[in-house]
Amino acid sequence: MKILFIGDVVGSPGRDMVAEYLPKLKAAHQPHVTIVNGENAASGKGITEKIYKNFLEWGVQALTMGNHTWDKRDIFQFIDQATYMARPANLPPGTPGNDIVYIKSNGKEIAVINLLARTFMQPADDPFRKIDDLVAEAKKRTNIIFVDFHGEATSEKQAFGWYNDGKVSAVVGTHTHVQTADERILPKGTAYITDVGMTGPYDEILGTDKEAVIKKFLTGLPVRFEIPKTGRAQLSAVLIDIDATTGKANEMKRIQINEDHPFFS
Ligand code: FE2
Repeated sequence: MKILFIGDVVGSPGRDMVAEYLPKLKAAHQPHVTIVNGENAASGKGITEKIYKNFLEWGVQALTMGNHTWDKRDIFQFIDQATYMARPANLPPGTPGNDIVYIKSNGKEIAVINLLARTFMQPADDPFRKIDDLVAEAKKRTNIIFVDFHGEATSEKQAFGWYNDGKVSAVVGTHTHVQTADERILPKGTAYITDVGMTGPYDEILGTDKEAVIKKFLTGLPVRFEIPKTGRAQLSAVLIDIDATTGKANEMKRIQINEDHPFFS
């Protein structure tokens, strides 16, 4: 079972990269399912129903989210019908949306889970205790469990990866927008990477207008963060190969597409 996961899609430049390169990535790697982190897809903060549906039309089977889940008011209009969106699961009981999304491929189910880390992040429930409950629930249906752990601190993300080794098929980090080169299969069969990196503007800072970010550091004054619509863009992703019976990962490959790392095939 091959899973393609595309890291934080930022604004229209990120969405354009998915629309352009997802068909090429599918042709080259033949993933069974594609999952995308969409929490920054609407101008960097949140997602709209239109964008959610666009992703599905482009051949994405499930979306994960993060700390920006609620930033566009539109979310409250469609999250109850967003069958393929996994919002952070470690939020208070009664929060709208799905704790686990199940998608199907080749007669097998894949459980998709999204959790928020807590270090240098807004308050959330304990993701470590929450994942135990979610894994117990998901295991009733499938051994293939994919987890997007959305967080800032590399230490917390590594701890979460090791804590889940052998319990889930993959723990992929998101949120920092910077791809780390530590992809590996942990000893008990869990694919792990600290951060997949982002999909969006290549010549900005984490996808946001670099002049504004530099000004903020220089002056400390409030600035307006915007996502530039023109300029070079990149795509960041991972490809994970999982044994569909045991749910253990066999291989993980990092993907970066930008002008310094062009896509050839
Ligand atoms: Fe985030």
